[in-house]
Amino acid sequence: MARRPRIVRTLPGLRRALEPYRDAGDTVALVPTMGALHAGHLALVRLARRRADRVVVSIFVNPAQFAPNEDFGTYPRSWGADIKALTETKVDLIWAPSAQVMYPEGFATRIAPEGPAKAGLEDKFRPHFFGGVATVVGKLFAQCRPDIALFGQKDYQQLRVVTQLAKDLDLAVKVIGVPTLREKDGLALSSRNAYLTPGERANAPLLYRVLKATAARIKNGEKIADALDVGRRQIDLAGFILDYLEARHAETLAPIASIADGPVRLLVAAKIGRTRLIDNIGI
Ligand code: PAF
Repeated sequence: MARRPRIVRTLPGLRRALEPYRDAGDTVALVPTMGALHAGHLALVRLARRRADRVVVSIFVNPAQFAPNEDFGTYPRSWGADIKALTETKVDLIWAPSAQVMYPEGFATRIAPEGPAKAGLEDKFRPHFFGGVATVVGKLFAQCRPDIALFGQKDYQQLRVVTQLAKDLDLAVKVIGVPTLREKDGLALSSRNAYLTPGERANAPLLYRVLKATAARIKNGEKIADALDVGRRQIDLAGFILDYLEARHAETLAPIASIADGPVRLLVAAKIGRTRLIDNIGI
């Protein structure tokens, strides 16, 4: 039976746990998570295992990235199942600080990301989000000092934001984006899929179908703006409340009018019932 990973909850404990890895010259991979682990997270862990000597997974539901009207209180938490899965995937260390450890009394410094964090996508609908993500990821990088850190491409704007953060702060960490894992019907794996009713769950893969159809139309020569109009109508007609369906430059996230202008990423966010889903694909 695999050995349970060491669980660390304090900063001195984390330093003590990481020291022998560094003394041995081992490379360290960090997989930041908010728990409620699914196969997508475990794919990040497996890739981390292949790419580094030691794998650290952080589990911290970060209050700073939720607005007061969002689901911090009800965000799925599955500690026992998470530990079991991380034992089976042979993680070395679980970093699970409390909010008090992460944001102690008197905490007064926040990272305010710009560039991809101000692209007018998630930031338009969740203005607090990337400040919270950048602050906690900056802290996780400082605490764990990983050689590599793995993030899912499902949160594509987040991936661009943390990549930019590591570059701008001269951090010696290589940020790796890992392709989205999907259910058989195309729905991107997400901890929030647990909120879907059976009817919503049946309808949810439409977003991926629209992304693929829009990408195909653009590849076949249709103007990006026209293809997006068709896609937006399909999403509306299927009963979603659409936040955005956009085509952006895959690196800068700047608006892009033609595939001749650089690599294109299609990104979508829409609500079905009370659940907000996001997804994206490259063209
Ligand atoms: O993607 C997530 O689960 C979170 O935004 C992250 C990167 C762990 C920061 O809290």
